[in-house]
Amino acid sequence: MCQLYTTNYPLLITHILNEAKMYFELLSKLERREPFSKEYLYEQELFWNNIMKEHAEFIRGLLDPSETKLMMTADEFAEKYEMILKKYAKNPYDLQRISLKETINFRDFKIAGEEEILNCNIKSIIIPLLSDHVVREANHFIRLLKNLS
Ligand SMILES: [Fe+2]
Repeated sequence: MCQLYTTNYPLLITHILNEAKMYFELLSKLERREPFSKEYLYEQELFWNNIMKEHAEFIRGLLDPSETKLMMTADEFAEKYEMILKKYAKNPYDLQRISLKETINFRDFKIAGEEEILNCNIKSIIIPLLSDHVVREANHFIRLLKNLS
């Protein structure tokens, strides 16, 4: 900590690292031709819900302070994912349905945000590539949730 200066949030570095670790684990499982257990799929759901929560927090923190309405919306998404993680961490009942509904809403918010950033209608320090990244990960999570049902 504090040995290297970066304009990225430390949580963003951890976030990317966690994604890389998860992807490495997934590829290793595939290489070993290991079937995905129910527990593993449940862990994946929790993992991606947490990733979505962090995306909402990054979006909130990278918006211009004058974008109060969008900041509030991003905060609401972060709170919803926080609630999902708290409520379903011990009881997976209904997790999939709630996660899918919330992530479709969040993905649509991200798409609208990406378009408005590209059209210079949103003030922020969000680079377009990051806004595209968060859309693609939401789409990945939605695909995962749909395949589970
Ligand atoms: Fe991400």
